[in-house]
Amino acid sequence: MPRIVVLTGAGLSAESGLGTFRDVGGLWSQYDLNEVATPEGFARDPVRVHEFYNMRRANCRAAAPNAAHIALAKATEQLGDALMLVTQNVDDLHERAGAQNVIHMHGRLDGALCHHCDHRWPAPLVMQADDPCPACQVAATRPDVVWFGEMPHEMETITSAIAGADMFVAIGTSGTVYPAAGFVDIAQDHGVESVEINLDPTSGRFDRILQGKATETVPAFVRTLLNS
Ligand code: APR
Repeated sequence: MPRIVVLTGAGLSAESGLGTFRDVGGLWSQYDLNEVATPEGFARDPVRVHEFYNMRRANCRAAAPNAAHIALAKATEQLGDALMLVTQNVDDLHERAGAQNVIHMHGRLDGALCHHCDHRWPAPLVMQADDPCPACQVAATRPDVVWFGEMPHEMETITSAIAGADMFVAIGTSGTVYPAAGFVDIAQDHGVESVEINLDPTSGRFDRILQGKATETVPAFVRTLLNS
């Protein structure tokens, strides 16, 4: 059972040049999430949705992990099973920084899913709506990401780990999208210390707040963690 559960959000990748969703100029101020991040939007216009994720996949490919990703990767390496790293992010910057066993609760940009037979395979950089599934050959390809209204991955694993941990840390997330937004309440209900690391405090629900840019606050936090 991990002693520490870390949840990361878009703010962790902000300094790598990948936009967040709800900050000024964020992704959801540029695109209507109902059109590009829901099953209904995909059913209406799969070409448009693939174009949106092809753009994000290309941006992700051009980005590099930052000091916060690197610090968390070192923490996973040194703490092993004592640390569970969960991300809401669909980029692969944690992995490219060397992090092990990252739980992508909202899926991954570098994954493809067939919505006809549920086959999964590594996504090409550019996906097209009429790409045939490698397994069933049906043109039913979608990005392997969790859309609004769909169930995030590994919820039972994550929530039971938080309930049994010593510490829950939320980094770079606005805490506005459930079920991830409710993780701090699970920590509070189970007497688990909760720490928020963010540019700006989001809610008064955390025991401690480390305010600042992730590339500064996260390496400092990991240093104290590894020295304690
Ligand atoms: N350092 C630390 N925190 C930062 C930084 C930074 N450099 N830049 C921004 N932040 C913080 C913001 O203050 C905000 O609280 O990151 C957070 C980003 O919030 P959102 O844009 O809402 O991103 P996130 O919380 O990850 O969104 C959750 O919503 O749209 C869905 O599936 C999507 O996974 C996403 C989920």
